Formats: sequence, structure tokens, C-alpha cells
Amino acid sequence: MKETIEKLLSEVAAFTPSTKEELEAFRIDFLANKGKIKALFADFKNVPNEQKKDVGQLINTLKEKAQSKVDDFKAKLSSSVETSEESIDLTRTATPSKIGSRHPISIVRNEIINIFSRIGFTVSEGPEVEDDWHNFTALNFPPEHPARDMQDTFFVESEEGEMALRTHTSSVQVRIMENQKPPIRTLSPGRVYRNEAISARAHCFFHQVEGLYIAENVSFADLKQTLMYFAKEMFGEKTQIRLRPSYFPFTEPSAEMDVSCSVCDSKGCNVCKYTGFLEIMGCGMVDPNVLENCGIDSKKYTGFAFGMGVERIAMLKYKVNDLRLYSEGDVRFLDQFKSAF
Ligand code: DAH
Repeated sequence: MKETIEKLLSEVAAFTPSTKEELEAFRIDFLANKGKIKALFADFKNVPNEQKKDVGQLINTLKEKAQSKVDDFKAKLSSSVETSEESIDLTRTATPSKIGSRHPISIVRNEIINIFSRIGFTVSEGPEVEDDWHNFTALNFPPEHPARDMQDTFFVESEEGEMALRTHTSSVQVRIMENQKPPIRTLSPGRVYRNEAISARAHCFFHQVEGLYIAENVSFADLKQTLMYFAKEMFGEKTQIRLRPSYFPFTEPSAEMDVSCSVCDSKGCNVCKYTGFLEIMGCGMVDPNVLENCGIDSKKYTGFAFGMGVERIAMLKYKVNDLRLYSEGDVRFLDQFKSAF
């Protein structure tokens, strides 16, 4: 009998189930009512008296070992259920992936588009590599204008000859007017390029949103009212605007628009350089020459245009003091806009 028990003991020691079913079969085989251990106890009465102590201890050891085997593997097999081949998703990342956030330039651009789309403006886009006609000539830039200089503009060679990286989104105005009949009411967002040394206050590329409205009897009062609506929607109901006379080749008259400083409530601070106002865009009535260049009858139609820098507005809204932050892709900067849209 001793030999039988020792054989069973090594069987128990060597048993390593890999499924719950194998473990259950083992439990029934050894520990159940009709199992091997119960049978040994039943046979115990036939063991000669002088061996009873040893054999009794051996059967008890066998029972304990079998029981702890069952207990151990029960725990192991149930905790490893999740990792069995069918249930584990091997495509999941080991660490949860970080959810990104929208870029502040996209947030502000979308907000500008939303504000103007509520008063009927559509969105249109044009190419970033532009020809001289659309970027300069059609917009009334004289041949010697400094913007046409290599110092200010990036020129590139292409199959179509010399092209420029557009210096402003006003080029899209020309394309729209060439291809659509008035009334036109559209917004053109996009990236623009200038040959500038990169610093906190200047960059060689940035973003603008251009607005264009062409119809019959459009007046400067319409321009002013439209921009006032925009300023209040963008910077708050209390915002005031100021239009200062200015010059652009493609508008006549031209103006620059300031908004009251929302940082200090116009009391004066370092953001508005103690003037109480901040310049945010250029605007004006589309020059009749430009209308004619684009095939629109300037006797019948008038219109206004405006153009603003998206970085500039984002800067005022989020108090960003360095333009370079927008293009460096530093997540410590970008993470701050998680809740901004
Ligand atoms: N294109 C001008 C710039 O880049 C901005 C601008 C001024 C656009 C006046 C306009 C406008 O449409 O009417 O500085």
C-alpha cells in the first residue's frame, strides 16, 4: 500500500493542469467521494497494525497535497482567464494611448468660420503655391511694390514658371471673383508665407482668414456692422471696435480695425501697450480696379473685404506670447487646449 501511495504522491506532484477541465478531472479522480483517496481510507482497515501510523500519515499527506494542488490551480486558472488566447486583444497598446487635442489655430479658425457662417458666409479655399496674377497683379499691386521683392516673398520654380508661396489669403478673393457671379459672401481660411526671420513676433508662415462680400449697394456701413458683429461674438458683448484709415492696394478706402482690449477692459496693460485697443485686421471696400480685373462690373457691384491673422487672434484669446509655440508641436503647450473646444 505504501508503494501505491508514494506513486500517487509523485503523480500529484507532477500534475500541472492547463485548463479548468483537467483540474476538475483530477479533483474527481483523487478527492471525490468515489476517488482514489477515499478508496485508500477504505482499505486502511487491512493495513497491519504496526504500519498504521506511517500509512495513515502518508494518506493524509497525499490528501493535503492533492487538495492544495486543486486550490492553487483553481486560483491560477481563474485569474489567467483574461489572458487566454481567445479573449486577449493583442492589438491593444500596453499603456493607454493619450487622447490628443485640437490645435489652438484650428480652434480659433473654426470659431471665426462659425461666427461668419451664422450670417451667411460660405468657406472657400485656394492654392498655397500661387502665381503673380492672383497674389499681386489682380490685386492692384504696382510692378515695383516691395511685397514682390525676394526679401519679403518666397519664390519657387515650377513647370508653370516662377511661382510664389502666397503672402496672403487675398489671392483667394481673386479666384472666387473670377469664377463666381455676385452676390458673393465667402470666407477663405489658409496658410500664408513670408520671408521673415523667425522670432517671438514674426514667423515665415502663419494663418489668415479672408472675408469677401460682393453684391449690389454694399457700403462701408455694411462692412462696419459686419465687423462689429464679429468682434462682439469673438471677444464678448462689451467689445468696442475702432476703424483707422489705412492703405492696401486692393481696397479703397482701406482701414485697420482695432478691438477694445479684453485683457484689461481697455484700462491699459502690456498686451495693448497701454492704448486700450488691439489691432486685429485690415479691411476696406474692394477697389473697382480689382473688381474689373476679375471680370465683375464695378458700376453695378460693390463689396468689402477683410483679412485677419489667426495667430494674432489666438494670441489675444489665449494670451500666448510667442508665435513659435504654434509650430513647435510641444505637447506641454498643446495639452492646455484640451477643454477649449
Ligand atoms: N491681405 C492683407 C495682409 O495680408 C490683409 C487684408 C487687408 C485683407 C485688407 C483684406 C483687406 O481683404 O481688405 O496684410
